[in-house]
Amino acid sequence: MRDCHLEVARWLDALQVDARIDAAGNLRALYPPRSKAPRLLIGSHLDTVPRAGAYDGVLGVAIGIALMEELRGRELPFAIEVIGFSEEEGVRFGIPFIGSRALVGRVDRELLKVQDAFGVTIQEAIENFGLLPSDLPEARLKDNTLGYLEFHIEQGPVLERLNMALAAVEAVAGQSRIELTFSGSSNHAGTTPMNLRRDAIAGAAEWIGVVERVAQETSGLVATVGKIVVKPGAANVIASEARLTLDIRHSSDDLRTGALENLLHQAREIAARRDLSMKENILLDQRAVAMDPLLVGIIEAAIAKSGSTTHRMVSGAGHDAMILAPEVPSAMIFLRSPGGISHDPKESVEPADVEKAIECGLHLLDLLASSPEFMKRTRLA
Ligand code: HGY
Ligand code: MN
Ligand code: MN
Repeated sequence: MRDCHLEVARWLDALQVDARIDAAGNLRALYPPRSKAPRLLIGSHLDTVPRAGAYDGVLGVAIGIALMEELRGRELPFAIEVIGFSEEEGVRFGIPFIGSRALVGRVDRELLKVQDAFGVTIQEAIENFGLLPSDLPEARLKDNTLGYLEFHIEQGPVLERLNMALAAVEAVAGQSRIELTFSGSSNHAGTTPMNLRRDAIAGAAEWIGVVERVAQETSGLVATVGKIVVKPGAANVIASEARLTLDIRHSSDDLRTGALENLLHQAREIAARRDLSMKENILLDQRAVAMDPLLVGIIEAAIAKSGSTTHRMVSGAGHDAMILAPEVPSAMIFLRSPGGISHDPKESVEPADVEKAIECGLHLLDLLASSPEFMKRTRLA
């Protein structure tokens, strides 16, 4: 992340914009520098996932900087703050959106105690990075914040199938992230009869099959077991523990939470039948969030002005925009994902689509600048 901050700061050099790092490790850059004008935030996250592609998150920061460049010093009635969030994916601590939570005052004492796989707390990680958790209040959104825009790859197949370059995001699906641990007893793989086993991996495997079936049978529901860690992890030892993650999402919160309750009930049933114990740890319960209707409408007008057909869609992926939206008008612009691929080295974008996004962004800035409705609102809280 330190190298990434240095690289992004280098991109900002030409604009004489000073990038600073806030107490949650977010890169923040105000243009024009030291402006006292109301500000529009444009950005996305700089962290990513293991074996990632090169565009998820960082493309939104690069487009924000490109818009600053394209303005070539042209005055707008608002300043632009480009922001590169930290820890959006939740890979290290299991909990996502840590950087953007700092802007809305949701990095609290409880969250600072959460540990990574090595027992390092978020508090210690902030200090190890050379930052002060006591400065977190400084990271809060300024009262004169007009809104937040996030350009992001779609990370799915919709725009490619519609043969469209851009889309306006009208809502972001809700998501739950849970860690489940099935515990049994280790024993010898060669001498323990099948009916005398308390096999944690077998129990977890049976439940993973149930997760897939329930999601396949429930329209609009996606559920993923993306990680499983077993103990002791030897070929000739029956596993005593299987710790796995569940990521479950739907645009309806009721349907998501209902499906989750059903899956946890089935996990308890499987554990009881196999004489295993099962405990769950709810890491995230993030409600679906609607994007700001005024901004969505203006984004569609900007997309049309850039000569593309407009399209509205719900995002299955989570984004920092869902954390900011309750406090400041927020909206997203999606770019087509060739092959619908993301969270994989094959993730890509079409350069022509990026050009279109920047052109749309410039129209968007002009439309926002001439919108009395937009200019008169600030933080919703
Ligand atoms: O997993 C997600 O929803 C996104 O990539 N943060
Ligand atoms: Mn991602
Ligand atoms: Mn992302």
